[in-house]
Amino acid sequence: MPETEKKAAPAAKEETKMEKIVSLSKRRGFIYQGSEIYGGLAGTWDFGPHGVALKNNIKNLWWKRFVEDREDMYGVDAAILMNQNVWKASGHVATFSDPLVEDMKTKKRYRADSLLEQLGHDPKGMTDQQMDALIKEKKLKSPDGNPLGDVGRFNMMFKTHVGAQQTEESVSYLRPETAQGMFVNFKNVKDSFNPKLPFGLAQIGKAFRNEIAPRDFIFRLREFEQMEIEYFVDPRDPKRVNEIFDVFFDEQQQFLKEIGLNPSKIYKVEVPDADRAHYSKRSIDTEFDFPFGQKELLGLAYRTDYDLKAHSEASKVDLSYFDEETKERFIPHCIEPTFGVDRLMLAVLSDAYSEEEMPVEAGAGEGKSDEKRVYLKFSPKVAPVKVAVFPLLKNKPVLVEKARALYSTLKKELSSVGVHGIEFDDNGNIGKRYRRQDEIGTPFCVTVDFDTIEQGTGVTVRNRDTGKQERMSETDLTAMLKKELAK
Ligand code: GLY
Repeated sequence: MPETEKKAAPAAKEETKMEKIVSLSKRRGFIYQGSEIYGGLAGTWDFGPHGVALKNNIKNLWWKRFVEDREDMYGVDAAILMNQNVWKASGHVATFSDPLVEDMKTKKRYRADSLLEQLGHDPKGMTDQQMDALIKEKKLKSPDGNPLGDVGRFNMMFKTHVGAQQTEESVSYLRPETAQGMFVNFKNVKDSFNPKLPFGLAQIGKAFRNEIAPRDFIFRLREFEQMEIEYFVDPRDPKRVNEIFDVFFDEQQQFLKEIGLNPSKIYKVEVPDADRAHYSKRSIDTEFDFPFGQKELLGLAYRTDYDLKAHSEASKVDLSYFDEETKERFIPHCIEPTFGVDRLMLAVLSDAYSEEEMPVEAGAGEGKSDEKRVYLKFSPKVAPVKVAVFPLLKNKPVLVEKARALYSTLKKELSSVGVHGIEFDDNGNIGKRYRRQDEIGTPFCVTVDFDTIEQGTGVTVRNRDTGKQERMSETDLTAMLKKELAK
């Protein structure tokens, strides 16, 4: 994997690709604008049936790999609302903020680093003072052409009140990371399961950040989903701590491979001091070539004993670990691999998006060869629909009945090997069905035609990526699908 300098965001052509992905996502039931009928709510998106299926496939693969298949990981699902003292102790009340700069005339507020990037500067690694100095020195203006004020700080947590009173005591926050739900349950899990170090807690759940500038579709959201691990290690062996950190980096890359992302679009970036979160001693981001530029996809942080120590001190509950062998007591250190579900979805969608000039459907009766075919080249592991079964014509009961029977058999056979996402489709003509299934990213389309019934010569199977059709018996079809989809 190349370690590189950040690439500049590509220009117009790629933006068009992004617009196409947004419109396909809506058209095919992946992602809709949040609260759309009321004009939307910035930074929120809703997931439709195919979006949920894609998301669940990513989450299930993650859970299986990092929790179910391991003996050292404990799954939890903590509450989103937490006692405000959690966020005071964790440092989020004091420091979980973004740099903000205001247009002196319109009073519109901008995220300072994003604005600098937009104006052609590279703010990576800059402190607030440095950004401020740059704005002043270059006399930079807001997008509306007005002078800018000083760079200040804006806390990104959504504040709310719990219960009928609205006092300082009733303040709570929507969690800005799932991580704290695991730190506060460290002792519970330790007491219930008595695990030996190293071991981890893992969680998938929603998190919320009042982003100054939500943007780029589902890349920067105000409500999003995380998959996080807090992995506790013995700090008395720093070499081993470093090894575990490296192993998690590799495992993150393995996961990206499993969900089908192209390795040549993935970059390892060591995060400079000024850009690291307040709790991290070392962070490596995994960045991805999104259509709008190379941006963060995953994070890996060495949080040391920062959180457990802070919570021990603030709660007065002992969150140390006792080593039975050496009879020593200490606060474990923590390594945190963190994954954004929505960003992973966007990476998968944009990587899979393909267009090509080719026959819309050879043999589908449309006969046109100059149309553009759009398809999502999903890995079968994440594809929301894995197999679509069609009757050639929807008004011929004999074909429909046979296709329905095949659909039921395949559903049963494939679910016995853990494969779900089999769809029956008789909408429109066959050319339209192929187009729809291509845009959903369905790897295999199976058609029951007259030869299936009259000649007993099996069904046709169309491969999404090549567009080629093959005729095979139902027995061979089941065996092929099991082989291709259950691996
Ligand atoms: N827990 C790390 C993060 O939310 O970025």
